[in-house]
Amino acid sequence: PKLVVLHGPNLNLLGNRETDVYGRVTLEEINQNLTRLAAKHGVEIFCAQSNSEGEIIDILHREGANADCVILNPGAYTHYSIAIRDAVKGIHTPVVEVHLSNIYAREEFRHVSVVAPAAKGQISGFGPFSYQMAFYAAWHIMKENS
Ligand code: DQA
Repeated sequence: PKLVVLHGPNLNLLGNRETDVYGRVTLEEINQNLTRLAAKHGVEIFCAQSNSEGEIIDILHREGANADCVILNPGAYTHYSIAIRDAVKGIHTPVVEVHLSNIYAREEFRHVSVVAPAAKGQISGFGPFSYQMAFYAAWHIMKENS
């Protein structure tokens, strides 16, 4: 099975960005961890990060559409990108939406995810461990669909 992990805007700064909210773990460490998990489960993995909405959509079309599952952290686009929601809907691949922080415990403008209705499910609030949970969710989905 093939898994795509896609991180949205500002997540490249992880580790020294708002560390009180997001912690000190870097994106590279998160990807390394996911890569290790994937290898252990015989899953092919492709990790990418982009700060631009159009590129996230292109990666969903190009890589996501040909994968068995996508783990997506849309960053701030979560809250207003109908274009990313439509891409998630459009590719037919199940998408696990993930957030490091609990978006429902933060500012009101973060309480709505416009992407979530198009996703298979959402994991939010467990820091870097959110991604590990997302991996197991993806693993479960891929097993069910195989
Ligand atoms: C985030 C939550 C978003 O509200 C925020 O804009 C981010 C990161 C998270 O992983 O907690 O960039 O998606």
